[in-house]
Amino acid sequence: MNQHEESLHFETLAARAGVGMRIGDTISTAPLIDPSTTFTYETVNRIHEALGPEGQGFAYARNANPTVVALEQVVASLEGADEAVAFASGMAAIAAAIQAFSIEAGDTIVAGSGLYGGTRGLFTQLLSYDIQTRYVDIFDLDAVAAALTETGSRLLYLESMTNPLVEVPDVEALVNVARPRGAAVILDNTFATPFLFQPLRRGVDLVVHSASKFLAGHGDVIAGLVVGDRSRARAVRDIRTVTGAVLSPFEAWLTMRGIRTLPLRMQRHSESALRIARWLEGQPWVERVHYPGLPSHPQHAIARRELGDLYGGMLAFDLKGGREDALRFLDALRVFVPGTSLGDVESLVLYPPLASHRQLDEEALRRIGIGQGTIRMSVGLEAPSDLESDLRQAAERSGLLKVTAAQL
Ligand SMILES: Cc1ncc(COP(=O)(O)O)c(C=O)c1O
Repeated sequence: MNQHEESLHFETLAARAGVGMRIGDTISTAPLIDPSTTFTYETVNRIHEALGPEGQGFAYARNANPTVVALEQVVASLEGADEAVAFASGMAAIAAAIQAFSIEAGDTIVAGSGLYGGTRGLFTQLLSYDIQTRYVDIFDLDAVAAALTETGSRLLYLESMTNPLVEVPDVEALVNVARPRGAAVILDNTFATPFLFQPLRRGVDLVVHSASKFLAGHGDVIAGLVVGDRSRARAVRDIRTVTGAVLSPFEAWLTMRGIRTLPLRMQRHSESALRIARWLEGQPWVERVHYPGLPSHPQHAIARRELGDLYGGMLAFDLKGGREDALRFLDALRVFVPGTSLGDVESLVLYPPLASHRQLDEEALRRIGIGQGTIRMSVGLEAPSDLESDLRQAAERSGLLKVTAAQL
């Protein structure tokens, strides 16, 4: 980030995402898509320089491509970082971030127990390299300290909000537990986005994103990012170059296009989610609502301190009933779209026991607070009153809400 950019607000940086790419003396106001795989120069030695250890130039698009680099610069500026490295998916970004810490056979990663299922799947695969994962309750700092000390772990892996219960860890406190014990911290900031929370400012070593969610925001991109200081980003970039999980220029362009409206979208996602969370709390067919903006949420105070007065678009609730009731309710929705992703323009719903957390049995689900009536919701940009009406009619049609003749 240059000095001028440092003085600009988040909204301004986002709105200017990708503006200013040049051909000759022409400066474009929309980012340019450069599909080149190969770059050439007036003299052949410039190609050799571009391939050099600094890797700053463009020679071959698996190493670097102008449109992808433009996205990387935008995301680095939004996270307050030196550099970002763009990947073909969030999972590719997470795998490279872990690899960048030279984790090897015999090592143990300490991770929050409410982790995204795909990341759990990656950690399970690492078992075949004799890399273990110890899952801990990240809301119990003593337990985290003990796990790090007992395992001699060099890596603590966190998420800024857990899935699906949207719990919010005290990231700075966790960094202060990890650092003296020699462990680095990687944090997945997908749910919060840098608009709500900038983990590097709390001492986290590397931030990872599934840009497929709120960053790109329109349900039409699979992309990932790793963000951090120059030396760590360099290590991540080198891994990407050899593993080849690079983002395509078209996807980078779409992600930049999405980022240009990120602040507005996050504001609206957050306002609507808070409104719906409050509304759900008042419904007789709802047992409990999980949303960090509600005073009833266990980490409301932490969320308020770290996120301010916007708490993001993700919420979960437990309806009064079991699996059959939840499935009937989901099938009765007309505006909410059942789907496995989140962070899109349209509101999405998902049933964690059979989707994101299907690897866990009922007892394991219960231990992490997910019941058979738990539903996850990614609140989109529709009129919130339409969303409330949809939830109400689904509750009626599925038999959760008994309507008296007088109410009809
Ligand atoms: C929190 C979180 N991290 C990472 C991922 C993986 O991202 P991708 O699907 O882009 O690989 C997801 C996907 O749902 C996610 O929800």
